[in-house]
Amino acid sequence: MMNQLMILRKVAGIAKGFRILPEVTVLLVFVVLSGCGSESPTQQAKSPEMVPAIPNVPAPAADVSQVTEETRQVYQWYCTQCHGEEGHGNGVNAPHLVVPPRDHTKAGYLETRSDEQLFGAIKLGGLAVGRAPCMPAWGHTFDDKTIQSLVSYIRELCDCQAL
Ligand code: HEC
Repeated sequence: MMNQLMILRKVAGIAKGFRILPEVTVLLVFVVLSGCGSESPTQQAKSPEMVPAIPNVPAPAADVSQVTEETRQVYQWYCTQCHGEEGHGNGVNAPHLVVPPRDHTKAGYLETRSDEQLFGAIKLGGLAVGRAPCMPAWGHTFDDKTIQSLVSYIRELCDCQAL
């Protein structure tokens, strides 16, 4: 009888020991996870949300000459005082300039100018492309991508391409 009890207690003890083991294992896994792995499930959960955002990022860079709302704002802010709000060359400064600002809606003239020449005029100023120096240089104000988009915007205003 005593022996049986002791055996039972031993078995119970072993069983207890075994019962603790899985708990310890679970705890250890938890500690490991919370120590260095707790972020990965969160990141994995976030990544599906981030996927649709990724194609939106390179889109503007893909077509560098694309006219955006920013292009129109840049034109309104920096160019209209000479070239006019609609690009007719009739901005508030126009009467005070020795050489009249170019009419950006005049296809007849702008067809004779290449995109590179328009780009050069905007980036380096009128003088750089054999035009009047009162067309300022904007190369220190805007990056090439913005200047390229301004060329595209002027092509939109004149509804013309270089011949
Ligand atoms: C201070 C006045 C002034 C401002 C501001 C100005 N321009 Fe001009 N721009 C001129 C004048 C004047 C000419 C004409 C030069 C000529 O015909 O010799 C001109 C000519 C041009 C031309 C035609 C160059 C060519 O090949 O004949 C382009 C393109 C142009 N400007 C773009 C711009 C853009 C884009 C901006 C704004 C970022 C701008 N300009 C701001 C005065 C200005």
